[in-house]
Amino acid sequence: MTFDYFMYKGIRFTVQFHSEEILRFIENEFHVLDDDIYNVTYHKSGTHWMGEILNLIKHRGDPTECNTVPVLRRTAWYEANTSISNVENLESPRIITSHVPLHIFTKTAFQSKAKVIYTMRNPKDIFVSLIYFNRMLKCYKETKFQDFLEDFLHGNVLYGSWFDHVKGWMQMAGNENFFYITYEELKQDLRGSVMRICKFLGKELNDEEIDSVVKHSSFDAMKENKMSNGILFPEELLDNTKGSLIRKGICGDWKNHFTVAQSEFFDQVYQEKMKDVNVKFPWE
Ligand code: PPS
Repeated sequence: MTFDYFMYKGIRFTVQFHSEEILRFIENEFHVLDDDIYNVTYHKSGTHWMGEILNLIKHRGDPTECNTVPVLRRTAWYEANTSISNVENLESPRIITSHVPLHIFTKTAFQSKAKVIYTMRNPKDIFVSLIYFNRMLKCYKETKFQDFLEDFLHGNVLYGSWFDHVKGWMQMAGNENFFYITYEELKQDLRGSVMRICKFLGKELNDEEIDSVVKHSSFDAMKENKMSNGILFPEELLDNTKGSLIRKGICGDWKNHFTVAQSEFFDQVYQEKMKDVNVKFPWE
């Protein structure tokens, strides 16, 4: 395995950043507020991008907070040991980040009026993004591409199986407080996506404010912004000399990394695991 882990409800978590106690707490005791906004993803699906968009929408396009407050202070990654306490510092509406599968998410959330935005991404691109990110993570041990691919497809990785994560969360589709979108849609039409997110949140922004959200959540703006690009992440977590959180930001980078055989193997597992999912995803 590539990191020291423990299991919680069938899912792998890191010994370094997670604990059973906090997972049990967020699942069963976390106090949800009616105006909370939950930014949920399987990791490497565009979490930080969505977080930036949500923060900018919250401030009607004003980038002041994004430009002056480190990302880990404007949100709380609530299942992480190092971040849960930050929940108390968040101004309403709180933007709370999570990568947990539905069965570990706060049970009372859907009994409240809190809103959940679930962002998905082509799992092949997630896999590539993870490989680069893992190299920066101090708790990871380098592993062979093929071995990691098999672990990923079998769900023997942090946060478990991508397939189960997506299938679990997509059970919420149709719930009025649940909205899903893909990284690919954000890439294809950021402005239109921002408008859809505003509509879901019940926020009416004018054209100029929407333009500002789009401008300040662009890849280039986020890569340049020290408050958003991960450079200020704790040193015990990340070695920023080994890569960048805001790395390449494209769709289809997997084509530069997979062999034909690896891609076919991935597709075969994908077809089998996703055969009962009736959603058309915008990736090849
Ligand atoms: S994490 O650590 O799980 O929270 O990572 P996450 O934020 O989910 O995903 C990181 C990838 O998102 C890309 N990214 C962006 N792409 C396009 N536009 C913007 N603004 C943007 N911000 C982040 C980032 O580059 C990572 O993808 P890769 O493929 O590695 O570049």
